[in-house]
Order: sequence, then structure tokens, then C-alpha cells
Amino acid sequence: MKIGFIKSIKNDKRVPIVVESAKKLIEIGHELFGEQDSGTFAGILDPQYEELGVKMLSRADVLKQSDIILTVDSIHLNEYTELAENKVLIGMFKPITNRDGSHAALAHKITVFSLNMLPRSSRAQGMDVLSSQATAAGYKAVLHAALLLPRFFPMFMTAAGTIRPAKVLILGAGVAGLQAVATARKLGAQVEAFDVRTAAGEEVRSLGATFIEVEGANEDAASGGYAVEQSDDYKQKQMELVQKHAVKADIVITTAKIPGGIAPILITKETVGKMKRGSVIIDLASANGGNCEVVVDNQEIDYNGVKVVGNSNFPSELPEDASRMFGNNMVNFIHLLTSKENNLVINFDDDIIRETCVAHHGEVISTRLKKLLNIK
Ligand code: NAI
Repeated sequence: MKIGFIKSIKNDKRVPIVVESAKKLIEIGHELFGEQDSGTFAGILDPQYEELGVKMLSRADVLKQSDIILTVDSIHLNEYTELAENKVLIGMFKPITNRDGSHAALAHKITVFSLNMLPRSSRAQGMDVLSSQATAAGYKAVLHAALLLPRFFPMFMTAAGTIRPAKVLILGAGVAGLQAVATARKLGAQVEAFDVRTAAGEEVRSLGATFIEVEGANEDAASGGYAVEQSDDYKQKQMELVQKHAVKADIVITTAKIPGGIAPILITKETVGKMKRGSVIIDLASANGGNCEVVVDNQEIDYNGVKVVGNSNFPSELPEDASRMFGNNMVNFIHLLTSKENNLVINFDDDIIRETCVAHHGEVISTRLKKLLNIK
């Protein structure tokens, strides 16, 4: 198939296909087109792609020549009108927040697969961009916090005195949260973590951190391992407990999300007001409204001496490795979408294909998306 890859529309530094993923696709017979300079931030120059046989073209030419277009996020609204019907677009399309893009894809009969709608099953793991990119986010969040903190992370016993270890509190112990726990532990911090899913407790403890528990959480076996909305009583208890731990912390990293919904507020304005001067909050859920009441997405603010960072896009700050992982996820997804003869095979009986498909022949396909958008 003719497969093209293009730059992000949001100045994201990642590229959807790195040299090794291009090589894999070419080896099995696909023809590749890449947007000029798309790999620069990931450390890949056009001649490295060209050596493999990738044709590096203008963006418009890549869009025109490719049957399948790969992107980190999506394409510009005006580009849908220029695309021929039935082209396939694959990326972290985020159909819930990217409503205009979803409507444009439906209107222009573009087939869109959004990898962030992937079901969390063991078969889907190799394509799971949510996991691969959350790993990068959790890691980078801790390093960023360490740079902003006016203290050491590890404990030191020196002739100049004893330095106590930094206290790190992680809220939400999913993929990003667990990576943050592991990274903060490796740097020598004392780490506590909290999640509404009791199953996360064992993983937190196995990394040498303390799990904070609030009794009475709602858990739903049918939610595919994701968190669900909690009762008001639970939220109140949780808020009090989080505040008790947050005021003692040097760093708070929040990662809590509810798929398709607004992120729950876990750190109130009042809690930030009671935190120590010099402490740091990194909110990875800022693009979904944030877990911290005072966070501003894509900004670093000072609130009564506490640095509050709203950044849901840390993977872009690790463009080389985040792109490498993203590229592997893309290659695995393309295997699923193509036959041995390299023809496009869109089999909606396959839950991975069905659940990631935002638009096909002018219709919303994903059953989860239909439910979230209230479409019958
Ligand atoms: P996510 O990014 O949707 O949310 C992050 C974390 O925040 C989750 O652990 C969630 O439980 C937690 N959270 C939500 N509301 C909260 C609240 N009010 N207070 C505290 N914490 C809250 O989740 P992520 O990281 O994508 O993982 C979700 C689930 O998927 C997990 O059970 C994970 O183990 C599972 N998973 C399964 C995979 C597979 O089988 N292929 C791959 C990756 C994850």
C-alpha cells in the first residue's frame, strides 16, 4: 500500500514513523512517502529516510499520493476537503475533543482510526499508543519536577548535614502514574501513590512506594480496567485524604483520567494554598480540565509559592524514544489493517478495528464513541 507520514498539526515534536519502522514497512512491500523535515526533532534527517527508499515530499503531495496517512494527531480542517474519499487516516485523533475534525472526516468520507480509542486487551498491547506515550509522560514529568524543585531527591548524610529525601505524591496509578512512581523511586524519593482502582495498590507497593487507600470506591468490571465516576461521599473522603498527604509533599504529580470525561479534581485551590512554598505540582491531565483546580493547560504558574505545571504533552519532549515507540505501535496497527498481499482489510468484527474507527463511509463505527457521543 502507499503509506504516508506527516508532521503534527500542533507542533508536536514526535514523528509517526522512525527509520526502523519505515524499514519494516518497506521490507514487507509497502511504498512510503514522508513529509519533508518531519523527523528533524526526533533526530532523523530526510536523507536517512530516503536511503531506505522513502520519498520525502511536500505535505500536500504526501496527502495526495498516500492511501494510508499516519500522523501523531490529525490533519488541518481545510485538508479534509483536499483528500480523496476513502483515504485512511491513523493517529491519536481524539474524536471527543476534536469534534470539528470528526465532522469533517464524516462529511468528506475519510476513514479515521484513532489509536487513543484502542481497547485495553493483551492483543492490543503492541499497538497501544496510550501506554507507550504515557510511559514517556510519567518519566518526563518526574524529571521536570526534579528540575523545578529547590531540593535534592535522595537522602544524603554528609559532613555538611543530613538531607531528608524528597516526598513525592502520585495521584492516579495507571501507566503514567506507575512510571512516575518508578522514576521518582530510582531518583531516591519517598513515594506515595493513590488510585481509585484497588488493583493499582499491588503494583504501587511492588515498586517500593506506599499506596494510599480510600474505602468504598466504585469499581466496574465492565469498564475494561478504567476508573469510573465516584460517589459524592467517596469524593469528599478522597479530597480530605489527598489534602492531608499533599500538604506534606514536595512534589505532586497528577495523572487521573476518566476515559471520554473531564478529569476529576483531586487538588483543590485550598489544598494548593496549604502546600509548602517551593513545592511543585505537575498535572498531566491538564488538557482534560486538570486534576488541580488552579492548573492552566500548557502553562507553568506560581500559586502562593507553589509551581503548578499543566502539561499533557510530555511525550513530545522525548521525541526520539517516544516516536520510536509510537512507530512500532503504528507498524503493528498497519499489520492488522492489511492482508498478506498488502491490501487494505477493514474487518469490523475485530474489536480493535471497530473500536478505533471514528469514521468510515460517513458513519461513526466505534461503539464506545457512539455511546460517548450519544449516537444510536
Ligand atoms: P488513565 O490514563 O485513563 O487514568 C490514569 C489513572 O487515573 C488510572 O489508573 C485511573 O484509575 C486513575 N484515576 C481515575 N480517576 C481517579 C480518581 N478520582 N482518583 C485517583 N485516581 C483516579 O489510565 P491508564 O493509565 O490508561 O490505565 C487504565 C487501565 O488500563 C489500568 O487498569 C491499566 O492497568 C489498564 N491497561 C491495560 C492495558 C492492556 O491490557 N493492554 C494496557 C495499559 C493499561
